[in-house]
Amino acid sequence: MKFKIQNLRDYANEYHNSVVSPEDFWSEIADYFHWKKKWDKVLEWDFDTPSISWFKNAELNLTENIFEKLLPTHEHKTAIIWEPNDTSADAISITYGELFKATCKFANALQTQGVRKGDRVIIYMPMVPEATVAMLACARIGAVHSVVFAGFSATALADRVNDCKAKMVLTSDGNYRGNKKIPVKAVVDEALQKTHTVEKVIVLKRTGEQVEMVPDRDLWWHDTIANEPDSHKAEVMKSEDLLFILYTSGSTGKPKGVVHTTAGYMIYTYYSFINVFQYQTDDVYWCTADIGWITGHSYIVYGPLLAGATTLMFEGVPTYPHPGRFWEIVEKHRVNQFYTAPTAIRALQVHGTAPVEKFDLSSLKVIGSVGEPINEEAWHWYHENIGKGNCPLVDTWWQTETGGIMISPLAGITPNKPAHASLPLPGVQPIIVDAEGNELIGNNVEGNLCIKYPWPSMIRTTYGDHQRCKDTYFSTYKGMYFTGDGVKRDHDGYLRILGRVDDVINVSGHRMGTAEVENAIDEHPDVIESAVVGYPHEIKGQGIYAFAICDKSEKTPEDLEEEIKQLVRKIIGPIAKPEHVQIVSGLPKTRSGKIMRRILRKVASRDLSSLGDISTLLNPEVVDEIIKGAGLD
Ligand code: WT7
Repeated sequence: MKFKIQNLRDYANEYHNSVVSPEDFWSEIADYFHWKKKWDKVLEWDFDTPSISWFKNAELNLTENIFEKLLPTHEHKTAIIWEPNDTSADAISITYGELFKATCKFANALQTQGVRKGDRVIIYMPMVPEATVAMLACARIGAVHSVVFAGFSATALADRVNDCKAKMVLTSDGNYRGNKKIPVKAVVDEALQKTHTVEKVIVLKRTGEQVEMVPDRDLWWHDTIANEPDSHKAEVMKSEDLLFILYTSGSTGKPKGVVHTTAGYMIYTYYSFINVFQYQTDDVYWCTADIGWITGHSYIVYGPLLAGATTLMFEGVPTYPHPGRFWEIVEKHRVNQFYTAPTAIRALQVHGTAPVEKFDLSSLKVIGSVGEPINEEAWHWYHENIGKGNCPLVDTWWQTETGGIMISPLAGITPNKPAHASLPLPGVQPIIVDAEGNELIGNNVEGNLCIKYPWPSMIRTTYGDHQRCKDTYFSTYKGMYFTGDGVKRDHDGYLRILGRVDDVINVSGHRMGTAEVENAIDEHPDVIESAVVGYPHEIKGQGIYAFAICDKSEKTPEDLEEEIKQLVRKIIGPIAKPEHVQIVSGLPKTRSGKIMRRILRKVASRDLSSLGDISTLLNPEVVDEIIKGAGLD
């Protein structure tokens, strides 16, 4: 495979070249792809506006680099192995040739139903091959997809539809998740009552549940493709045309639509995929993420398919019908690269090694981790019991905004160091800064992680609100992209990510803004004010702890707690439901009225050491009450 780094010296060379002459470095990789028209300029950038343009004015279609480019050699190669939720159902293999036809058919169907280049299409679907087909069909016709995780609530879905003014929603009649059937079509129906831009809803039959089909709006997926041809002339896209929008949480306000564009994202996901995982031609690669997250976009769909890989898609959950399900799938499909999240590892660790030992994991060559800092215990458990001590473990640090893996070992090349994301990929220039933005040079330093030079798959804007993009990422430190993460460079120069330094919490690898959860809690009629913090949680990495003032309420604290939990579940989705809700009479505030979250974090973490000076608070007396209320006195 072209551009695959072979050894550490190779890495050092490539890295060096990528920093000394980034434009030459990336244009050489870009030359590997199929373009309809080449670029005028490799890179134009300014981090103040911010304005970033890679491969300016070039023309291409990303899907032609999966299909037209690869079909001569890959027509009969398996593109997708799909493992259904239910163990009694058969797995399905789809070749590149079949995937192409399915993509073309659906691309034609989308156009027949009125979708045009630039229109936004929401994908709210289960982990089935049709979800991948939907993404590729959008890319084929130049529509902008926005995948919304199918566990999100009707309100969350409606917010996203409204923010991007989606013209269409793709969904299913229902989703299987472990032993549950989730009525997602009903969620879509509820969401669409609060929106007015959606003209058509295409519904995939999955569970066979009875669903209501709204006349003139709802269509069955199989009907839409029935008479469509299986060839399609790809839309001509410019490098910087939008490929997709993906919503993610920040420290303030509602989730924002991170915008990724065509050429840079294509090049970077391909390059990072083959190098981090050291994918070889006949390998079977499996990433357990959901396509509703960036990991699914870049490393189930785009990166692997651009590399001509066989990518496995799993519909179910790690513990159904038994806690050895992941390992059963690894054995069944002889998986070579396995990529999952620390939260899944920790959840499975609880079941001990018996479910692991039942299965033959000898096919594994590389194991990976993503989404949150992996603690050393989980790292070792994963390395020893799944990797049997001889698979390199790639701890990959990146973000929705970065589009692809930024800091990670390259499997089998970078020496493994537990819990260290280690070294930047070629083309990535991290910088550690102190609170004032001064660069911290040398080893044994700790500070905030920024990136000082553009990379091809970086965020271009936040949809419909460029100022927000500038304020969030490019204003904290002038001339740099600020990640929101803390980082340490150790005595060997290896990087260790320390977690978020802002008000973003990471629950089971899912990003949540404290403000977002607080807004949901404040919807409760009895809540006067609330504050949400994260605290260390054994399985989830972080749990959500909410404090709420409900002075005038006639309800018992127990009832209020339960109602608040259910309300957040309803407004955002089950992943945002607080673990703890504590009813309080006040929140600790500074004299300027700012909530002292530091103190709340201490209480939530059940660690009252170094509580700090509380005498400067406006209301120091509430601290005692909160400590008592938490049962910590
Ligand atoms: C945040 C981004 C990248 C896809 C999944 C999450 C945390 C991610 C790691 C890692 C330590 C990590 C960071 C980051 N994070 N990977 N290997 N080690 N922390 O994407 O939802 O945009 O979240 O996840 O805090 O900022 P996301």
